[in-house]
Amino acid sequence: MGFDISVSVDGQQHVIDVEPRLLLIQALREKLKITGPHIGCESGRCGACVVLMNGHAVKSCMTLAVQADGAKVITAAGLAEDKRGRELQSAFHKHHALQCGYCTPGMLCAAVDLLEENLDPDDHEIREALRGNLCRCTGYQHIVDAVKDAAHELSSSRAHAEGGEA
Ligand code: FES
Ligand code: FES
Repeated sequence: MGFDISVSVDGQQHVIDVEPRLLLIQALREKLKITGPHIGCESGRCGACVVLMNGHAVKSCMTLAVQADGAKVITAAGLAEDKRGRELQSAFHKHHALQCGYCTPGMLCAAVDLLEENLDPDDHEIREALRGNLCRCTGYQHIVDAVKDAAHELSSSRAHAEGGEA
């Protein structure tokens, strides 16, 4: 027997019929045809499937679709609407932080979650925040550099905006 769940994905509201054991990654990819979140290990180890659920990075292969009932889910495709997401996307390009791109949607979502909490992360904090996201191409340093650069840009523009308000 299935359940109807109501979930907002990248700003669009959907009602979908899901089996109790259907995973969020399957609901996104198979029911909604949203293919930004990738499937890698399907066991919570690689981070290719990470999305934001109510602002926090979650592994969608370890999350049941029913857990997303009433939630706001953002995938990498929806990050263009988010200032942190846009800054990260541009920093990833600038620092060559992607090669094949398989890990990138999950990396970006995990990095957005980090920058929500901390706009001045050091290398160690970035590596800790992204340790659930594997990349077989870049060697990670370019990703760390990109996240640091995006954080710097965001905190400078915030300081600038606050200075303008004073
Ligand atoms: S596919 Fe979800 S963590 Fe690897
Ligand atoms: S860019 Fe290929 S896995 Fe990260």
